[in-house]
Amino acid sequence: MTLAAEQDAAPEDAEDGVWLACIECGATFAPFDAVRYRCDDCDGLLEARYADPPTFEDFEDEGVWRYSAALPFDEGVSLPEGNTPLHYVPRLEESVGVNTLRVKHEGMNPTGSFKDRGMTVGVRVAEELGVDRLACASTGNTSAALAAYGARAGLETLVLLPAGKVAAGKVAQASLHGARILEVDGNFDACLDIVQDLAERGEAYLLNSLNPFRLEGQKTIGLEILEEFYADEGRYPDRIVLPVGNAGNTAALFKCFRELVRSGQLDADEVPKLTGVQAEGAAPMVEAVENGWDHTERWDEVETRATAIRIGNPVNAPKALPGIRETGGTAVAVSDEEITDAQRSLAAEGVGVEPASAASVAGLRKLRDRGVVGDEEDVVCLTTGHLLKDPDAAAEAGGDPEPVPNDTDAVLEHLGN
Ligand code: F0G
Repeated sequence: MTLAAEQDAAPEDAEDGVWLACIECGATFAPFDAVRYRCDDCDGLLEARYADPPTFEDFEDEGVWRYSAALPFDEGVSLPEGNTPLHYVPRLEESVGVNTLRVKHEGMNPTGSFKDRGMTVGVRVAEELGVDRLACASTGNTSAALAAYGARAGLETLVLLPAGKVAAGKVAQASLHGARILEVDGNFDACLDIVQDLAERGEAYLLNSLNPFRLEGQKTIGLEILEEFYADEGRYPDRIVLPVGNAGNTAALFKCFRELVRSGQLDADEVPKLTGVQAEGAAPMVEAVENGWDHTERWDEVETRATAIRIGNPVNAPKALPGIRETGGTAVAVSDEEITDAQRSLAAEGVGVEPASAASVAGLRKLRDRGVVGDEEDVVCLTTGHLLKDPDAAAEAGGDPEPVPNDTDAVLEHLGN
């Protein structure tokens, strides 16, 4: 998986120019002949491949399905998703000290997180395969997206959540959209182990980011960033900074760039440096990057206020670590206090995000302070989920309400007039 690698010709099992390939041994499979999450031969991760990688001229309309030329279908189960704002944040840009800082706010998707981009494609594939029950393990956002898109498609949904560690807004969404919610006495990684077992036993179709088609939808974040940034600034960003949990998004962005390099739309040296940020209490990817490993070691004990990225065994590490390395990026860990500070700084620009999202800005700040990021850089930070996902964290980070009497003069007096 290198940036410059040549695309293989379509194998015999390709369907309309789409097939699945194992990233470890290269085995290829028909995309929709069977339910398959890993390689039949070596158990490696799979990725979707296309005979014709996309060009910018292929894209029309807006949202995720604008990019259907880069996806396995022309349309999907849509609410609709994508087309999220790329905010200017001038005060934050100034205080961080980079040439350009823009914030891609994925919290503005229909269920309030970037997961919707993956789900619109993943649930479309589920329909193609004819499955009747969808399932995921989740730190919350995936379960909210699965519940909503499953409901839209009229399919049964099952979500496994780490008991007591999912933010209130996310549980409420999964609940109201009709998912069956199982609270597991264990962390996210334990939930993912169980749901993989259930999927292997044919009990449900797995829609975690281990499912290669989820990542196809998430690729469109990269396409939108490149198009929007170029339209505004006349160049591509030097760096994209994003929070990392299971490392699905990092893998998806790398795949997006590789396909554009293959289709001749991007030079390898124009590819933004993928820069991952984790919480100090859950940082196996940072550990792997710092040690130059090509794999992560599972962390059994994980803890952070940013519950969305409270993950110790990032399943997409084999796809994401080459992405960080090949693009010249890096990874950094931040404390919960740094995350909350960044959440406040974003809020002060009117951009409301949940704690995990603010990790991107906290990480950028840290890397800028260390001189790893230069002052001449054009940077995009990804904010992955909306403030309302975790109302308790927002209320704690913000100021307290002040009780006042039911009387205008008393209110004025309280205000100090
Ligand atoms: N930010 C938010 C708000 C998330 O919900 C997640 C992952 C991430 C970042 C990390 O993304 O896994 O692609 O590296 N949430 C998953 C979930 C695990 O279940 O909602 P990643």
